[in-house]
Amino acid sequence: MGDEGHLGVWSTEDACYELIAGRLGSGTRTLETGAGLSTVLFAASGGDHWCITPFGDEMQRLRKYCRDRAVDLTRVRFEVGRSETVLPGLDVGDLDLVLLDGNHGFPMPMIDFFYGAGRLRAGGTLVLDDLQLPAVRLLADFCDLDPGWRRVTRSQKWGAWERKSSSPFVADHVDQPWLTDSWVPGGGPFKTQLGRLAAHAGRGLRRRVAARRSR
Ligand SMILES: C[S@@+](CC[C@H](N)C(=O)[O-])C[C@H]1O[C@@H](n2cnc3c(N)ncnc32)[C@H](O)[C@@H]1O
Repeated sequence: MGDEGHLGVWSTEDACYELIAGRLGSGTRTLETGAGLSTVLFAASGGDHWCITPFGDEMQRLRKYCRDRAVDLTRVRFEVGRSETVLPGLDVGDLDLVLLDGNHGFPMPMIDFFYGAGRLRAGGTLVLDDLQLPAVRLLADFCDLDPGWRRVTRSQKWGAWERKSSSPFVADHVDQPWLTDSWVPGGGPFKTQLGRLAAHAGRGLRRRVAARRSR
């Protein structure tokens, strides 16, 4: 989790901000769930930015923080509400970068991913913060294996992926390497588990045939 202490706003690791800053400009269109120092960074870049936070007081704190430091917020749209309810109806067009750092409890990161990262253009960047938390880590593991994404960088805390196409998210599970190659609770990659199941079923069948023959 970030640090809300010394700045009076949330924050995360410098390296994450550096990656984001390197991809921003006055022509970029960006979106984040959650708010904090990242919002200040997006504002300072001068591009169009959407920031979704459920807390009006958080937005007010950020406004004051920016006012005190002469950071222009005119191209930042604050949407006060929960991202899972705001995002589906939000009209943002194609996005260049999406930072998901709002509610980290299951299934919120997945909802933010569907409605937020789903609006990234091909080549656009997804940044996930707080990979130490299970729901976010699951999403990061998906992006690592899915052919629709290219990993830019990943640490214990955060990661970034480039979207390879802007096609809608419609793939069924059989077309997702995440299913076949990923770790499944209780024992190794799904492929291995299928192998074990097949072996188990085979043993059962052989036992039944042998029992019938011995009658
Ligand atoms: C860790 S902080 C964000 C830090 C920020 N990205 C940064 O680097 O400065 C988490 C944020 O998520 C917000 N949040 C919590 N639940 C949310 C929800 N359902 N939708 C959107 N934001 C939410 C919190 O209000 C807080 O602003």
